[in-house]
Amino acid sequence: MKLLVLHTPKGGSGKSTVAREIAVAASLAGRNVAMADLDPQGTTAGWYRRRQAEAPALVRWSPGAPLEALEGAGLDWLVVDTPPATPPFLPALLAQADAVLVPVRPTPDDLLAAAPIARSLARCPSWAFVLSQVPPRSRLTDGAARQLASLGRVAPAQLTFRADFPAAAITGQAAVEFTGKAAEEARALAAYAATLLGEDLNGSAS
Ligand SMILES: Nc1ncnc2c1ncn2[C@@H]1O[C@H](COP(=O)(O)OP(=O)(O)OP(=O)(O)O)[C@@H](O)[C@H]1O
Ligand SMILES: [Mg+2]
Repeated sequence: MKLLVLHTPKGGSGKSTVAREIAVAASLAGRNVAMADLDPQGTTAGWYRRRQAEAPALVRWSPGAPLEALEGAGLDWLVVDTPPATPPFLPALLAQADAVLVPVRPTPDDLLAAAPIARSLARCPSWAFVLSQVPPRSRLTDGAARQLASLGRVAPAQLTFRADFPAAAITGQAAVEFTGKAAEEARALAAYAATLLGEDLNGSAS
């Protein structure tokens, strides 16, 4: 089982949105996926309560706890949503993570926070920034991508600011379950997340 963590202390940058888009996309691609919500705000848990479909599952799991039970249940991926903070469990969580994605909006405020985040992830085997809530047709994005690339890897897929993302969440869905550009972006991001985990989402699990 592979453990994918969404982390950044910066609030509102897109952790929960990216987590559910990737989890649903991977589930649609045939992976057995669960999500864990480590955020006391309960964004992902609330989304899951509104959801009709069972997959991906929502499981209770605490960083540091063994993963055998989840592996025994046949899970391929555990996608972990985290709070906008540096919680005490973070070192244990990062030690267990196979990959970490760090959503960043292309704004000076988010970019300012990126350097300390990159330093805190220096020991992670596989991590990348992912541009999130990107305004369409904005010059901000190229500059942000360049700045982030000087600090770490930047996902070649990004999520544009699109109404489909929050609209899907109303019914506990992900935009990747709709048709359109948001769905295409989410699929591309999930495919990239798979490569960070050493997998090919359109091929077989390793
Ligand atoms: N690509 C997007 N397009 C439009 N709206 C988005 C997009 N990504 C996120 N949002 C909206 O922005 C807000 C913050 O996103 P989200 O909850 O995913 O961030 P977060 O990092 O999990 O926040 P927190 O730090 O509070 O946990 C939400 O209202 C969400 O619906
Ligand atoms: Mg959140």
